[in-house]
Amino acid sequence: MRIKAAVLREFGAPLQIEEVELAEPKAGEVLVRLVACGVCHTDLYTASGADPSGYAPTVLGHEGAGVVERVGEGVMSVVPGDHVVTLFSPQCRQCVHCLDARTNLCLAIREQQNKGYLPDGTTRLGAGGEPIRHFMGTSTFAEYTVMPEIALAAIAPEAPLDRACVFACGLSTGLGAAMNTARVQIGSTCVVFGAGLVGLGAVAGCRLQGAERIVAVDLSPDRLELARGQGATDVLAGGPDTVQQILDLTNGFGADYTFEATGNVGVMRQAVESARMGWGLATVCGVAGKGETLDVVPRFLITGRRVAGSSFGGVKGRDEVPQLIDRWLAGEIDVDPLISHRLRLDEVNRGFELMKAQDGIRSVIMFDS
Ligand SMILES: NC(=O)c1ccc[n+]([C@@H]2O[C@H](COP(=O)([O-])OP(=O)(O)OC[C@H]3O[C@@H](n4cnc5c(N)ncnc54)[C@H](O)[C@@H]3O)[C@@H](O)[C@H]2O)c1
Ligand SMILES: [Zn+2]
Ligand SMILES: [Zn+2]
Repeated sequence: MRIKAAVLREFGAPLQIEEVELAEPKAGEVLVRLVACGVCHTDLYTASGADPSGYAPTVLGHEGAGVVERVGEGVMSVVPGDHVVTLFSPQCRQCVHCLDARTNLCLAIREQQNKGYLPDGTTRLGAGGEPIRHFMGTSTFAEYTVMPEIALAAIAPEAPLDRACVFACGLSTGLGAAMNTARVQIGSTCVVFGAGLVGLGAVAGCRLQGAERIVAVDLSPDRLELARGQGATDVLAGGPDTVQQILDLTNGFGADYTFEATGNVGVMRQAVESARMGWGLATVCGVAGKGETLDVVPRFLITGRRVAGSSFGGVKGRDEVPQLIDRWLAGEIDVDPLISHRLRLDEVNRGFELMKAQDGIRSVIMFDS
């Protein structure tokens, strides 16, 4: 079929809205009609050429929500009409990692996905006889996409898809960092560095876990206000004195749990240093620039602080994204303030501009407009 999609042709240049060919789903694959898709930093990171593992041409986009249109041979877990959230982090339910509660890093299709191919090593996307690769296994800046069954979470049909899409990446990452990776305990003190979608999700996750005190740190007063809306009890303007300010707020000890959601390695260090001696856990969510390293004085670790990393919040997507969506529908998570702009697909480059200007938390592309 012919579909409209935003294609990355050349790094650093605007995405091009083109008509491309999308082939039918093969065995284990699903054709999804996109309804909405968030615009995320990872899309821009690849589009800019900064990502050393990036490839082109490719159809970007990974924060998708839509409806199953057709299924390939052997697909058992979704049927046409199901509402789905796309998963750049799949869950095959069979590999050694899927069978272990300690991680969500499914091993099933990593190698081909990282190269921009579907699991059989080919692509369903093309234009003028030239193949186009699948970005993050999702390619959701498009009217339709073909994805592996194991990378789709079937969600409650009553969940509005124009907001469900943020559970495909940033929001679930933050929620999961608090709920799965750190497993924040009731009554604890938490600090969240960064109040973008990931950090705001972490604030909400700490609240849902029953944290007593949640300190949000950001450079933007508007974002700190949004953090209050998600459950932050205290807010701080980030800067070189932040660690000292957190120690002052916590009787000199630091927080039980800290979360980094900025991508800045200096802030990651602050997250480690403001975790409490004895048991403080610093969870790193941000993606650092190429070649950057985290600098930690080992004494902080010997005295009982720990550091954890979190990819997609440790969320096993097919099992847990539907549960997070249900908690949203039950009124436990407030998604509306996280969505600032609704754009058409041909405005996707404006979505990047809004993101660079920190205008709102998420712009969402709507496909029915
Ligand atoms: N681990 C994962 O699976 C995963 C998934 C999605 C995104 N990410 C990464 O998480 C990070 C956050 O993503 P986002 O979408 O929320 O980004 P964002 O840019 O919207 O938010 C980052 C926030 O950090 C704040 N900030 C910058 N410097 C700061 C400082 N010195 N002190 C305090 N706050 C500071 C900014 O003002 C901004 O509000 C990015 O690095 C992104 O690549 C990771
Ligand atoms: Zn993302
Ligand atoms: Zn797996």
